[in-house]
Amino acid sequence: MFLSWQMTMCSFLLATLVVILSSATCFGQSPAKPAIRDEVSYSNDIRPIVNNFCTTCHAGDDPEGEFVLTSYKDVRKHVEKGELLQRINDAKKPMPQNGLLPPYMRRLFQLWADGGYLNVGTRKAGNENAKYEKFKPPVIAPVDIDRQGFEMLEYMQGHWVGSMMLMGQNIDWMAFDYRAIAPSHVHGIFEGGTIGNLFTSFFVANFKGKKTIMARNGGLLNGIYRTSYFVLDQVKYKRNEAYYRLVDAYGGKDIMWMELTFSGDKLQFNSYTSRFGLTEPKLHMAFTGRSRHRELAAAAAKAVGFPQRVVERDFSKGLPTPTWVGKYPQTSASFIWEGKNESVLELAQLAKDPIRIDQIPHLSSLKVTVQRTELTTGKKLHIYLSRRALTDNRGKFITQGGYVRSDLLDGLLSFPEISSKQNEYSFTYLHPGKYFLTVVADMDADGYPSPGDITHPVTEVLVAPKSNSHVKITDLNVRN
Ligand code: HEC
Repeated sequence: MFLSWQMTMCSFLLATLVVILSSATCFGQSPAKPAIRDEVSYSNDIRPIVNNFCTTCHAGDDPEGEFVLTSYKDVRKHVEKGELLQRINDAKKPMPQNGLLPPYMRRLFQLWADGGYLNVGTRKAGNENAKYEKFKPPVIAPVDIDRQGFEMLEYMQGHWVGSMMLMGQNIDWMAFDYRAIAPSHVHGIFEGGTIGNLFTSFFVANFKGKKTIMARNGGLLNGIYRTSYFVLDQVKYKRNEAYYRLVDAYGGKDIMWMELTFSGDKLQFNSYTSRFGLTEPKLHMAFTGRSRHRELAAAAAKAVGFPQRVVERDFSKGLPTPTWVGKYPQTSASFIWEGKNESVLELAQLAKDPIRIDQIPHLSSLKVTVQRTELTTGKKLHIYLSRRALTDNRGKFITQGGYVRSDLLDGLLSFPEISSKQNEYSFTYLHPGKYFLTVVADMDADGYPSPGDITHPVTEVLVAPKSNSHVKITDLNVRN
């Protein structure tokens, strides 16, 4: 059986996962709608569009399509070459991939080219924020979990394995591992490797006087830090089915929301975003999965005395005001900061993120150092942590029809990809337990473990509670 297993999507995934819930890259001025002014500049018009719609994929060490759009020079080069204008206007193969930009935005690129690629505009940012300024946050009515909805936290736990539609792309395989980390807190982290990571938490909070469930989603991507906060505002029960909606803790459903439907061992997890109000909210991600390896979540719950209905976070006065508010009108409970040289913690502080990674209960970390040989130099590495071994004692993949067995792949708990320039990776937030560690040099760059890839004999790692361990892989030399 051929596995169309799109791990190639890892970095892409992370990029887009961050976007799922927190959309726009940064608060650039939104190009004022159809009035296209005579002066179109990179700084006023083009950069905000590129940051909002392109750099989630076309930035960083391993950009999609092998090119970045992070500077004036980059963007200009690709417009001059022609392929950028072609793709943003190509309805069959649009960029961004989930659909054409509004016509006025696409025209701005052409006008920018026609006008001679003005870099810094002379026009002062005027009423570009008009659309945001008009935004009036709705009144959010949190669900009182003393009455209903509390069970959502329990339902959320699990190693969810399934497939997903993400920004118009179908990804055949995807997994989320959510487990309790405190009596009223379920948490999952997505390790994206080189590109960054993001974590999602569901927890009991006091939101403006109501005891309810809130969600936090976000992290670091290509030097841009952003997290968004959500509040449970709708619960619906049907036969064999429970539905929960969590909306932006500031802008409500007008800005973004996520909805989770549980039925049996199945989860349907959708999210909708409006790019901070720039467009109408639309479906951004749809994940369908089943829960596996329930013993993992059960053990974590037992260790921390989950579930209890205690307030984990007090947001009785609402969330703090993000740093960017003042410069831009507020539409969302999102915390954003951009900076290439700051650490994730510095960025979190600058963004005024109310829940930083260092403020959640510590689990364990694991550093993996890989010794490269001539064979694996210049190749991307996939670092897999799984329930079951992917390779045998000789270092060969355990296969079926030439590819790693799908039931083994379904045991993957974390799967970062690191760039050809890196030899080391740290898992920042691991639950204690026994894992199999498999490093794969992706020789054919197809993004999944396949014939030709180089790996190593099976390696077991025991992660002790609240530990920081280090594993060195020195035998990455077995060709499949
Ligand atoms: C969700 C990820 C994603 C986003 C967002 C995205 N791209 Fe892409 N882009 C890709 C991928 C993957 C490819 C390579 C495959 C392809 O050509 O379709 C690509 C290819 C391209 C190409 C083709 C390059 C060539 O050699 O022909 C251009 C041009 C491009 N993107 C421009 C843009 C622009 C401009 C934006 C924003 C308006 C954008 N992309 C947003 C993922 C993305």
